[in-house]
Amino acid sequence: MSEHRIELTVNGRKFSATAEARTSLGEFLREELGHTGTHLACEHGVCGACTVMLDDGAGAGPRAVRSCLMLAVQADGSAVTTVEGLADADGTLHPVQQAMRDNFGLQCGFCTPGVVITLAALHLDGAKPSAEQMEASMSGHICRCTGYQGIRRAIRQLAGEAA
Ligand code: FES
Ligand code: FES
Repeated sequence: MSEHRIELTVNGRKFSATAEARTSLGEFLREELGHTGTHLACEHGVCGACTVMLDDGAGAGPRAVRSCLMLAVQADGSAVTTVEGLADADGTLHPVQQAMRDNFGLQCGFCTPGVVITLAALHLDGAKPSAEQMEASMSGHICRCTGYQGIRRAIRQLAGEAA
């Protein structure tokens, strides 16, 4: 089994660890680094539960990626933001988290980290996505519980529209 040493910054903290060549980034975050907020479900790029933000340092800035489809070794040298890294240090929720909470946008919560990261990525650098843009981004997320209505209300709140 080939192992590689990789260095990652996760939620502002540097980690150095070894990963097998076949280990996905999502598995690495959960099993090696203990960041279990990132959920793995389909592990085929379909459900969106595993979504994290990743900045590979190439200048394009952070983007939402499916951590089940990326190998940990491919993320070597990158900065990753998981759902654990969104709230402020004092516990103040990210606006996306707050909107999801205000509007009962989750039930079991399994899909929620991916949903929240995708919506948060759309708001990077002060961007103000429309409700339509945010709703379109949800096409890559499967939620088995909410019927999406709470998520849609959260999106309307984020867009500044009445739910
Ligand atoms: S676990 Fe990655 S898309 Fe489903
Ligand atoms: S809240 Fe249960 S899968 Fe979305």
